[in-house]
Amino acid sequence: MIQSPNAIKACVFDAYGTLFNVHSAVGAHKDRLGEQADSVSMMWRTKQLEYTWLRSLMRDFEDFWQVTGDALDYALDAHEVDDSQLRDDLMQAYLELKTYDEVVPVLSALQKAGIKTAILSNGATAMLEAANRSAGISELLDASLSVDELKVFKPDPRVYELATREFSIEPHEVLFQSSNAWDAAGAASFGFNVLWVNRFGQRTERLPARPDYEASDLNHLLELLSIPA
Ligand code: LAC
Repeated sequence: MIQSPNAIKACVFDAYGTLFNVHSAVGAHKDRLGEQADSVSMMWRTKQLEYTWLRSLMRDFEDFWQVTGDALDYALDAHEVDDSQLRDDLMQAYLELKTYDEVVPVLSALQKAGIKTAILSNGATAMLEAANRSAGISELLDASLSVDELKVFKPDPRVYELATREFSIEPHEVLFQSSNAWDAAGAASFGFNVLWVNRFGQRTERLPARPDYEASDLNHLLELLSIPA
């Protein structure tokens, strides 16, 4: 359990990889990619993240929809797949990603307990709205915060500040959840309490700030806050 659960005023969530399974997009069209499906999906995600960091450093922001499309084009090209219909279908699938199994029950339990909840994501506003609607979680969230207005991606500290501003609270009153270890580090560096949802059994990042807690899925969040499931 967290030292003072009552001090937590909001639970803030990374979207892609934490609530939404990004590999469910390729999963929906797996047969069309055959043996290369997993490799395409991994490369798509890796390039997507790289492009966010690089564009932030270059100060040449395009929103996450553009970056996601660019990354998909790279991944398809690298696997010698030339199929514009498949490209369109994969992008559409990104608007209808599946949530991990525990997401709806955990968000519902938090709502019942009266804790504010928000997404804080690199995702473009329209992408997040579509994915939230498709997954049926819009009503379970008090806010869905996008980097769009800042035109810079995580882990720039200004992004994490969007959440404290939204709820008029201090960083130490936020419990932030991310499956992306680099995002967990960025959030810890900003001053959030951080649960690293280590879904993929990754090693600890050698970055300056470390997450406070680690678990394999989001159910641990309820234990940390002593909230019944
Ligand atoms: C997000 C990416 C980092 O949702 O997964 O912000």
